[in-house]
Amino acid sequence: MPCPPKSDDLVFFVNGRKVIERNVDPEVTLLSFLRKNLRLTGTKYACGRGGCGACTVMVSKRDPLSAKIRHFSITACLVPICSLYGAAVTTVEGVGSINTRLHPVQERIAKSHGTQCGFCTPGMVMSMYTLLRNHPQPSEEQLLEALGGNLCRCTGYRPILASGRTFCVRMAEKPEKQTLIFRGERVTWISPGTLKDLLELKAKHPEAPLISGNTSLGPAMKSQGHFYPILLSPARISELSMVSKTSDGLTIGAGCSLAQVKDILAERVSELPEEKTQTYRALLKHLRSLAGQQIRNMASLGGHIISRHCYSDLNPILAVGNATLNLISEEGTRQIPLNEHFLAGLASVDLKPEEILESVYIPHSQKWEFVSAFRQAQCQQNALADVNAGMRVVLKEGTDTIKDLSIAYGGVGAATVSAQKSCQQLVGRPWNELMLEEACRLLLEEVSLPGWAPGGKVEFKRTLVVSFFFKFYLEVLQELKKLVKFMPDSHHYPEISDQFLSALEDFPITGSQGVQRYQRVDSHQSLQDPVGRPIMHLSGLKHATGEAIFCDDIPMVDRELFMVLVTSTRAHAKIISVDLSQALDLPGVIDVITAEDIPGTNGTEDDKLMAVDEVLCVGHIICAVVAETELQAKSATEKIKITYEDLEPVIITINDAIKHNSFLCPEKKLEQGNVEEAFEKVDQIVEGEVHVGGQEHFYMETQRVLVIPKAEDKELDIYVSTQDPAHVQKTVSSTLNIPINRITCHVKRVGGGFGGKVGRPAVFGAIAAVGAIKTGHPIRLVLDRKDDMLITGGRHPLFGKYKVGFMNNGRIKALDIECFVNGGCMLDDSELVTEFLILKLENAYKIRNLRFRGRACMTNLPSNTAFRGFGFPQGTLITESCITAVAAKCGLLPEKIREKNMYKTVDKTIYKQAFSPETLIRCWNECLDKSSFHSRRMQVEEFNKKNYWKKKGMAIIPMKFSVGFAATSYHQVTIAQNRSKLQNPTWKACFSDPPYSAAALVHIYTDGSVLVTHGGNELGQGIHTKMLQVASRELNIPMSSLHICETSTATVPNTIATAASIGSDVNGRAVQNACQILLKRLEPIIKKNPEGTWEDWIEAAFEQRISLSATGYFRGYKAFMDWEKGEGDPFPYYVYGAACSEVEVDCLTGAHKKIRTDIVMDACCSLNPAIDIGQVEGSFIQGMGLYTTEELKYSPEGVLYSRGPDEYKIPTIADVPEEFNVSLLPSSQTPPTIYSSKGLGESGMFLGSSVFFAITDAVAAARRERDTVEDFTVRSPATPEWVRMACADRFTEMTPTAKG
Ligand SMILES: Cc1cc2nc3c(=O)[nH]c(=O)nc-3n(C[C@H](O)[C@H](O)[C@H](O)COP(=O)(O)OP(=O)(O)OC[C@H]3O[C@@H](n4cnc5c(N)ncnc54)[C@H](O)[C@@H]3O)c2cc1C
Ligand code: FES
Ligand code: FES
Repeated sequence: MPCPPKSDDLVFFVNGRKVIERNVDPEVTLLSFLRKNLRLTGTKYACGRGGCGACTVMVSKRDPLSAKIRHFSITACLVPICSLYGAAVTTVEGVGSINTRLHPVQERIAKSHGTQCGFCTPGMVMSMYTLLRNHPQPSEEQLLEALGGNLCRCTGYRPILASGRTFCVRMAEKPEKQTLIFRGERVTWISPGTLKDLLELKAKHPEAPLISGNTSLGPAMKSQGHFYPILLSPARISELSMVSKTSDGLTIGAGCSLAQVKDILAERVSELPEEKTQTYRALLKHLRSLAGQQIRNMASLGGHIISRHCYSDLNPILAVGNATLNLISEEGTRQIPLNEHFLAGLASVDLKPEEILESVYIPHSQKWEFVSAFRQAQCQQNALADVNAGMRVVLKEGTDTIKDLSIAYGGVGAATVSAQKSCQQLVGRPWNELMLEEACRLLLEEVSLPGWAPGGKVEFKRTLVVSFFFKFYLEVLQELKKLVKFMPDSHHYPEISDQFLSALEDFPITGSQGVQRYQRVDSHQSLQDPVGRPIMHLSGLKHATGEAIFCDDIPMVDRELFMVLVTSTRAHAKIISVDLSQALDLPGVIDVITAEDIPGTNGTEDDKLMAVDEVLCVGHIICAVVAETELQAKSATEKIKITYEDLEPVIITINDAIKHNSFLCPEKKLEQGNVEEAFEKVDQIVEGEVHVGGQEHFYMETQRVLVIPKAEDKELDIYVSTQDPAHVQKTVSSTLNIPINRITCHVKRVGGGFGGKVGRPAVFGAIAAVGAIKTGHPIRLVLDRKDDMLITGGRHPLFGKYKVGFMNNGRIKALDIECFVNGGCMLDDSELVTEFLILKLENAYKIRNLRFRGRACMTNLPSNTAFRGFGFPQGTLITESCITAVAAKCGLLPEKIREKNMYKTVDKTIYKQAFSPETLIRCWNECLDKSSFHSRRMQVEEFNKKNYWKKKGMAIIPMKFSVGFAATSYHQVTIAQNRSKLQNPTWKACFSDPPYSAAALVHIYTDGSVLVTHGGNELGQGIHTKMLQVASRELNIPMSSLHICETSTATVPNTIATAASIGSDVNGRAVQNACQILLKRLEPIIKKNPEGTWEDWIEAAFEQRISLSATGYFRGYKAFMDWEKGEGDPFPYYVYGAACSEVEVDCLTGAHKKIRTDIVMDACCSLNPAIDIGQVEGSFIQGMGLYTTEELKYSPEGVLYSRGPDEYKIPTIADVPEEFNVSLLPSSQTPPTIYSSKGLGESGMFLGSSVFFAITDAVAAARRERDTVEDFTVRSPATPEWVRMACADRFTEMTPTAKG
């Protein structure tokens, strides 16, 4: 085969433009090429692993067989550009633009309020756009499928789905047949044009992998460092896309994508009788939930089979379905069975190095043959299965005797595991209960699942092994019933009791429907006045077109360098030496920045920017490589040799910390009444424990900063994704030892923060600034997802113990709660979080005798920090668990206990702040009413009586959420402790007097246009939109005359963090103040010329030398808390709410379906109800994630395992409740806020617990029925593992302890 000596030109199209790339590097992905080379920054980087969909683009390729053009979505971060020869790529910029024409998808997602931070929006747009290219009027199912691989952390998905519902290129050239070669520095990409050439190449380079979808190779090359100097691309070989149908089976080319396989199987299922398509239907079932649509479009059948992942969803079914692999090499063809030996990788039955997989033969099933597939994952869609299985049985015709049986499991070993021995022993047995018992025993013995099973969860997995078989047993009986219906003399098969039938149904993936209610503005309000109206997010359209610029979208600046951080691999150790020599020798590496390079202070004594002698956690920053490119910097980090000496103790868990008396700060305590005395007088006492896991912020835009040093006066410009630019500015100033006035921080917009970008960005900004000063170059630092998850910490995990004393009627008389949060290795916000938790623990309940104590544990984990809700979502779960425990003991329903103990009249909290619970009660009653709670509660009970294996649960949860920071006076703490607090960003905000201060700067220009600047940052919460609504009302001009450019420390100095739900309120007051000052100055002019226009007045003011620029200031609310006395007025106001959720639980697998949620939230006079509903829905879904799926996993040595979307599951579009209703309740109260609005950023988070309590309600119903004790330790998140094991039954009893 001729092999040209030089690299070929890569030719493809992007947005209709021909791209010719000479000397293309095969290691470059499409995402990097689009962003860096073509400057198309609408396509975003968020995970780099194919798991989030932020980088979705559409690819159009000519199908080699049909010669038709196929359009499909892909994740650009996994696509090597060399694979695109001859293809056409459409990015969000190619779909539409603000300046030319918007595509309806872009327009509708923005107008449906489907964007908040907007970082996921281009990916969402591209998934929908591709769907519409293929199906102009898609079905609901197709829409959900198309969006299944796109994550959004802000919106809660409902408005995105709603925008998609409103719908219900220049083309690729035909590529030539000759071999194309693209030579990079390290890697050569060879793409032959014929099968013959491919086989010749494979013989010549047997170690070279075939790069098909790159969804398996790509992640392995990135995360496990796999490296291949030659890559062979089979993309242009039409033989690998062949499909042939015969009378006994179906042969599918190995090059077909999984999406194509799905279509092929669906077509065959529609053509053939049911009995022949058992295997195809089982495959189809898993193809619906395997990854997201983009991955299914890219991943090939051949790549899937050959990868032999232990979690493969298809291999177990193909194995039991007797599939055959058709192999081909230069030597000829041969067939091997896709069986357990092949899947285990036995060399004797494997492909030879020079062979490739050409196609896969899957035989039809026969009459009396039954095939089923099962899988259970952390969430229903876009999640790898914990366990999956393929099962097939052939019965002797007309009997119940097993003629043949095959069972294969995934997720239970290093490869797909076949239960061959068990199956052999069961042949000849009748298909009945006795066989079932024996089968379970055999299966548990054979599928032994050692303690090291991938992903752990050993007992759960063993339970699933038998639970799945039980489901299969029932399914076969059900099929037999259908089969013998018309055979009067047929064999009699065991009946399935009606109660058991529910075990057969899987939960379908359904879209969410619902109603959003809010109060319209007063009919007398001027039409121009936008306050209270559902105005679209100011950046909505720009989000949808990709024109909204985020920090890393700023074009590369002159002489820019890239920085990558090097972090500790030990949890607690002394640094013995750091050897940088090898790294510094690498090409492109400019420098390595260490603590010694810091001209000023290296953070604080307790919280150093870079570790010096000792590391306190895995992920502790030690140094940072600066290189010309990201790749060079990343490679250099691997060459830095750090030697450690491990130190004792290594404290990872809260229990370890308690044992070692390891705490970050003194205990916080509040007490009222006489708790001990009350316990002596009550009818009953219950004690219990509650565990709440931590949570990763998972903002879609990872932490990033660009520092540009200026030639003059040591000035620095810093572009940073932060909630607190003033803190970045101050930290850089002290780190570099230069005055604050030389440093300007700019924040255009932030791709999600949720508290995670309050403190940490200052650390990254300061380290990058040291690099910039030392090298004299601009420095860009963009954390990749795994480093972001490793380094930055998140929500504090909590362990709580409670003792509650109550009367038999459910009246709670005394409550004693002690809780501990895991603060990680540094103080950060942990003391404040503990305080908030204690202050808020009482939630909505009036309990006379209370004792709340809390401590922040110091452990060897990365420092945990602020997170939406700030301790409230964790702490209040204990309080609500007490309520359910009391209900169980009294034999009453939890809602009755809640009602009985709720605040009813004007009262004082445990810290003696007066408040009126009137709105709380209204929210509760409206929620009961709108959700038809009582009648549905009865229906749930009816359902539970009739169904043994599925249980429904319902819960309604009230909420009293205090908004804002608490200012605190500390009499008892030492000066040293105070000093360490004052180093902390949020503390500074609190101690600064007053604590809620905010400022704004408003300029009016001579044409009448107005530039508004304020101290809040746009995080997606719509603060800029709200600020313009305020300015528009105050100045009485349309919003179109107003503009916000960015938040900058040069325009509004000394700001507080945009956090704690108060941003819009306090900055709104400052904007209002500035506008009122300006209007006052204009008053005489307006009076003189009342008929004049705004422009006339401004012109006149200018001529009369009236200043048209004003700063506005808001001094903040009076607030304080005296912990010594246990009293204060720490919060300016409360937000009340209630949420009711209903779920259905599959007791055999632990899966759950969210049937319905109703939320009633007190918004008072919403500034913008569309944005506020977005905040409520988004935070509710984030809370639901906290309580149900988001699980951080650490090794015993403190290494975080869950470092990406594949291991850490945030809710997907399929997780939104099927019916999701949200009402904003107008309140009669008038909080002291801007136009009596309320901050709704955080409170919805806790309402996600209604799903958690609905799940535990369902589990309790199962346990009651099975006569298992009703008490169980409350553990959040309620993952499928927890639910399955809590629904104890005959199958969990079979697996009391893990083997091995
Ligand atoms: C985000 C994400 C989510 C996922 N979720 C799931 C899931 O839920 N369930 C699941 O089962 N899987 C899942 N996967 C795995 C996915 O199914 C596989 O990565 C994919 O099927 C591999 O196909 P590919 O074409 O991309 O293989 P590639 O990465 O291109 O290649 C993989 C291997 O196969 C070899 N190969 C490819 N084609 C041939 C051939 N014709 N002949 C010989 N060797 C060949 C290559 O040499 C290479 O060694 C997921 C992957 C990602 C990235
Ligand atoms: S960045 Fe590509 S899928 Fe997440
Ligand atoms: S709007 Fe979807 S991630 Fe922010």
